[in-house]
Amino acid sequence: MSTSFIFAFFIIIFFSSNHLSYADDDQTVTKNNTTQLVDGVCKKTKNYSFCVKALYTDPRTPDADAYTLAYISFGLAYNTVNDTRSLIIDLLKNKKNATRDALKRCLKDYNEATEALEKSFNDLNSETFFNLPDYANTASRSAQDCEAHYKPLPSITITSLCQICVVVANIFNIPRSSLV
Ligand SMILES: *[C@@H]1O[C@H](CO)[C@@H](O)[C@H](O)[C@H]1NC(C)=O
Ligand SMILES: *[C@@H]1O[C@H](CO)[C@@H](O)[C@H](O)[C@H]1NC(C)=O
Ligand SMILES: *[C@@H]1O[C@H](CO)[C@@H](O)[C@H](O)[C@H]1NC(C)=O
Ligand SMILES: *[C@@H]1O[C@H](CO)[C@@H](O)[C@H](O)[C@H]1NC(C)=O
Ligand SMILES: *[C@@H]1O[C@H](CO)[C@@H](O)[C@H](O)[C@H]1NC(C)=O
Repeated sequence: MSTSFIFAFFIIIFFSSNHLSYADDDQTVTKNNTTQLVDGVCKKTKNYSFCVKALYTDPRTPDADAYTLAYISFGLAYNTVNDTRSLIIDLLKNKKNATRDALKRCLKDYNEATEALEKSFNDLNSETFFNLPDYANTASRSAQDCEAHYKPLPSITITSLCQICVVVANIFNIPRSSLV
């Protein structure tokens, strides 16, 4: 095998893998009427139907490449965290008894989750991907910590959304086995 042949081989591998990740194939529709990209991402999460439903609440999803899908998934997680944080602030205005301590803990948790997800947008804007899974996992753990102290604020939606974030972020990273 000549060196130039090997070189050409790697060039082909490079462009075909690049094509697979970023180009038209992303929008190829599967039998499930989801794009190949969404189908591939959601198959790596614990709840396929939750994942598809959540991603398709965003009108950009049918045409999204992996980078747009990263914005979409972190955006969904962020909005849910921010809404829950607002709810906690409202609840804290009324609760005067023992519930208050739990809610204060939750507010601290959700402040941390908000901060982590805000960092993820800065990283996405600068196309820096390696910390994204950590930010998503931090948000997820914060929501779980709140639930452990205050059951009426379950973490399942946020942990499921953060899991989508981890899978999408790892499209850009060396694959890791770590899931939420
Ligand atoms: C389609 O959805 C089903 C369940 O809803 C799932 O088992 C399957 O892996 C999905 N993907 C494809 C390409 O059929
Ligand atoms: C498939 O998706 C397209 C747009 O994404 C939608 O217009 C169409 O109704 C969907 N079809 C089914 C069978 O869900
Ligand atoms: C998956 O998510 C759906 C909501 O989309 C929910 O109804 C269902 O219980 C979830 N399944 C599991 C196994 O958590
Ligand atoms: C977060 O929630 C607050 C309400 O507490 C709202 O005013 C703000 O616009 C939300 N932030 C984003 C970025 O959606
Ligand atoms: C605290 O108040 C809430 C209603 O605001 C009530 O549901 C709860 O039982 C109270 N807890 C204690 C320990 O008094």
